[in-house]
Amino acid sequence: MRRVKLAYKTIYGRCYLSSIEDFIDSSIYSSLKGKVSLILTSPPFPLNRKKKYGNLNGNDYLNWLSGITNKLRVLLKRNGSFVLELGNSWQPGKPVMSTLSLKALLSVQESGNYYLCQNFIWYNNAKLPTPAQWVNIERIRVKDSFTNLWWLSKSSRPKANNRNILNNYSDSMNKLLVSKKYNSGLRPSEHVIGEKTFLNNNNGSIPSNVLIGTNTHAFSKYINYCKRHEIKLHPARMPIFIPEFFIKFLTKPGDLVFDPFAGSNTTAEAAENLKRKWISVEQNADYVLGSKGRFLEDETNE
Ligand SMILES: C[S@@+](CC[C@H](N)C(=O)[O-])C[C@H]1O[C@@H](n2cnc3c(N)ncnc32)[C@H](O)[C@@H]1O
Repeated sequence: MRRVKLAYKTIYGRCYLSSIEDFIDSSIYSSLKGKVSLILTSPPFPLNRKKKYGNLNGNDYLNWLSGITNKLRVLLKRNGSFVLELGNSWQPGKPVMSTLSLKALLSVQESGNYYLCQNFIWYNNAKLPTPAQWVNIERIRVKDSFTNLWWLSKSSRPKANNRNILNNYSDSMNKLLVSKKYNSGLRPSEHVIGEKTFLNNNNGSIPSNVLIGTNTHAFSKYINYCKRHEIKLHPARMPIFIPEFFIKFLTKPGDLVFDPFAGSNTTAEAAENLKRKWISVEQNADYVLGSKGRFLEDETNE
């Protein structure tokens, strides 16, 4: 059994400075079996261009990732969920996509015997035009501007409630709720809209599986903390609305959320704010150091 290092604790969570491989070999991993309601993570992507934290590629990547996600299965409660973010990837030197990210989903899903509950995409409308050679220079491809968020689960009916993630009604829906008038009947799509279908106020509209937003904030507690302490910023942070969405949708306050590739610990910040317990694991000491700033009092207000 390995001993893994607790980097810091908060009211609801604990962050470990460790590789996930070592963590899986530790007594903490064994103590978490069957206790986790949601695993939410962005593993290193199978990129061709190396990011600062390094990446495997090809079959090595598939075997490595599915070997880990397979071992994470036992941590989940019977009704638990696993949300896995995987970006798109491209073949080196050619204007064609790699299918590695799709293969990664399939190998994770098959080797861990997970159900695929639903696929989501995070559409980042501020994404830079990449791959630059094909998009900007030769102009033969368009911007690659979304990542996949695959919602996997241990059972076919994991805990989930879309009432927890309702969007505000549009102005036209609010007007309709007052006027109680709309066109019912057969639509061109062949759906039949009943006379009373839209008259109930359900406190908001059901969101779709396309999540839209950017991670281009110039200021946040995390960024301010890293800048002040000259800690390098994580290059691939998730915007916090992504973990917030899935945590509200798939867990209740007090449930345990786990991120095995925590990076700057965005998942944990969302969990802490929503009063969920959390555990995170990250192998890079600088990223762990910076992530602590998410949970400290903002020194600029002192
Ligand atoms: C895409 S980033 C995660 C970003 C994170 N979601 C955020 O919002 O900051 C993937 C992270 O996995 C970490 N990582 C890579 N291999 C790892 C391993 N074997 N064990 C633990 N962490 C690892 C990298 O250092 C990197 O910070």
